[in-house]
Amino acid sequence: MIPLHENLAGKTAVITGGSGVLCSAMARELARHGMKVAILNRTAEKGQAVVKQIMAAGGTACSVSADVLDRRSLVQAKEDILGRFGSVELLINGAGGNHPDAITDVETYVEAGEGQSFFDMDEGGFSTVFSTNFTGAFLASQVFGKELLKADSPAIINLSSMSAYSPMTKVPAYSAAKASINNFTMWMAVHFAETGLRVNAIAPGFFLTKQNHDLLINRDGTLTGRSNKIIAGTPMKRFGKPEDLLGTLLWLADESYSGFVTGVTVPVDGGFMAYSGV
Ligand SMILES: NC(=O)c1ccc[n+]([C@@H]2O[C@H](COP(=O)([O-])OP(=O)(O)OC[C@H]3O[C@@H](n4cnc5c(N)ncnc54)[C@H](O)[C@@H]3O)[C@@H](O)[C@H]2O)c1
Repeated sequence: MIPLHENLAGKTAVITGGSGVLCSAMARELARHGMKVAILNRTAEKGQAVVKQIMAAGGTACSVSADVLDRRSLVQAKEDILGRFGSVELLINGAGGNHPDAITDVETYVEAGEGQSFFDMDEGGFSTVFSTNFTGAFLASQVFGKELLKADSPAIINLSSMSAYSPMTKVPAYSAAKASINNFTMWMAVHFAETGLRVNAIAPGFFLTKQNHDLLINRDGTLTGRSNKIIAGTPMKRFGKPEDLLGTLLWLADESYSGFVTGVTVPVDGGFMAYSGV
């Protein structure tokens, strides 16, 4: 178990997409270190399940409904959180996801096969996936940013992806959005550097979660061809576990560990990015 970061105790973390697989693990861990955790999701009930777990372990948390693509709902959530917890010191932009409308059925154009090609992708679906993974982080940073600037040693942590560097096949909107997240992380880091607000990102490698389940696991529970390629491309030869992200999260959140670190995206990927495949 990771030793307690006393520096974080009593501070508030807002986590968009906080009931998701990776971000709920982050929420539970930050609460264990004494942070008050606000979980933002479109449906508050999903967040409530995580809140229950946190409270059962003696932590403090609340679940607030907000859509990261709807500024008004974010403002409402901010007021609700400030009313309960009084301040915001950490924002994790974790909301993200994919949609079949923005996924091609084949990896390359010349590959034989039925289904959705590049030319069939729906413009609306493409935009929604791009916005969910990029504009949502921009909007939440705008809405919570002014509160962060009032706080002592505040931080934003964005969720990027391996697809930001070399885009994964089939998911062009998601990949473009995550590449934008890396760029925006650097932009905000520079913009706010002198205020004390640090902005960094974590780029997880491949973790089995709901959003990628159908691409990685066949109906009979076996690994898809895509999964086998991922494992072959991951020198540590396994998928990540949500707990694999927590040390990096705490390092970036805790100013006493990373006070001179801003504008970086940290890969947590079992070596995926370092491996040429040869
Ligand atoms: N799973 C992986 O392997 C992996 C790899 C790299 C990056 N990531 C990124 O990490 C983050 C968390 O991923 P996860 O695997 O835990 O996914 P997840 O699908 O379990 O969680 C994502 C959460 O975001 C929420 N969400 C989606 N759209 C929203 C909106 N408009 N407003 C508010 N909430 C919304 C969903 O309800 C869900 O709770 C995402 O940004 C994802 O892209 C995941």
